[in-house]
Amino acid sequence: MRTLQAHLILPPDTNHHGTIFGGKVLAYIDEIAAITSMKHAGGNTVTVSIDSVDFLSSAHVGDILELESMVVYTGKTSITVFVRVTAFHVETGESTLTTESFVTMVAVDENGKPRPVSQVVIETEEQRRLFEQVKLNRALKYMKNK
Ligand SMILES: CC(C)(COP(=O)(O)OP(=O)(O)OC[C@H]1O[C@@H](n2cnc3c(N)ncnc32)[C@H](O)[C@@H]1OP(=O)(O)O)[C@@H](O)C(=O)NCCC(=O)NCCS
Repeated sequence: MRTLQAHLILPPDTNHHGTIFGGKVLAYIDEIAAITSMKHAGGNTVTVSIDSVDFLSSAHVGDILELESMVVYTGKTSITVFVRVTAFHVETGESTLTTESFVTMVAVDENGKPRPVSQVVIETEEQRRLFEQVKLNRALKYMKNK
């Protein structure tokens, strides 16, 4: 399940260097992860964990921020979404990878209680790699919280 979004970066989205606020990127990431997980769950989901966010390079006012997301892991009620963010530079036609993030969402019923989801279908080598990465991170998180 993939979702694509694009946003033009405007002056109110940026700091005094003219680069986008990290919090703005996080809000976009949370939104696209929610949409992607809702499509997978066929209903409402809530964010339970922003597992990781790596800001790799900055995006500037006038760039087009492009977000791509996909479901990479499912548990019984949880759905982990990978989000990749790139900045498209209009003048050069080039794209730069700016951010990568994993977000875990939980499918909820009308009372806000977790409800089961269907399992993710792995179709590509990239999905397989990301699936294994989430599996390992979950195991490490579980060990730390024990
Ligand atoms: C998400 C929520 C419904 C989970 O309820 P819960 O009673 O803790 O449910 P469970 O313990 O059964 O956990 C449900 C799933 O979430 C996962 N989960 C719970 N806490 C987690 C965490 N910190 N990180 C990753 N996964 C987590 C569990 O592993 C479980 O996954 P699985 O069913 O695939 O095995 C509840 O914690 C909640 O409503 N949180 C607030 C969500 C919200 O408002 N988000 C917006 C933030 S502003």
